[in-house]
Amino acid sequence: METELIISALLLLFCILSGIWLSLIGRPLNRLVFSIHKVTAVAAVVIAVITVVNLPEDILIFRPVRTMLLFTGISLLAAFVSGSLLSFDRFVNNILKTVHKLSPYLIVSFSIVTLYLSR
Ligand code: HEM
Repeated sequence: METELIISALLLLFCILSGIWLSLIGRPLNRLVFSIHKVTAVAAVVIAVITVVNLPEDILIFRPVRTMLLFTGISLLAAFVSGSLLSFDRFVNNILKTVHKLSPYLIVSFSIVTLYLSR
């Protein structure tokens, strides 16, 4: 479980760094950096989901853990929906940019609380 968590955290870090890089380059989006950003985002989520599914039952039935997992999931959804829309120039607007900028902080914060509660 620890290995999966470390891989997932590293992928999330690469995803955030590639996102900042993507923003710094500006539009049109750099295809290579954009691909790295998408692949690391999807891979981080897939490994995180596998880790959660394999969590022991006694941790999963603990209500605060479930609540934090739900909040983490909602933040991830916000990142994916806003990110997917921002991939198209015609959908770019300040609200989506703000959502996409804030969601990584929420994902990281809720994940840390989830990990703390699952100890
Ligand atoms: C775990 C999921 C994700 C995280 C944590 C994440 C994080 C970030 C971060 C930190 C930035 C830089 C924001 C800034 O400072 O301006 C960014 C930019 C961006 N991300 Fe993501 N992202 C995620 C998923 C996605 C997905 C799935 C897509 C597309 C399918 C995507 C598309 C973009 C685009 C297009 C930008 C550039 C926005 C712009 O500057 O116009 N992101 N992302």
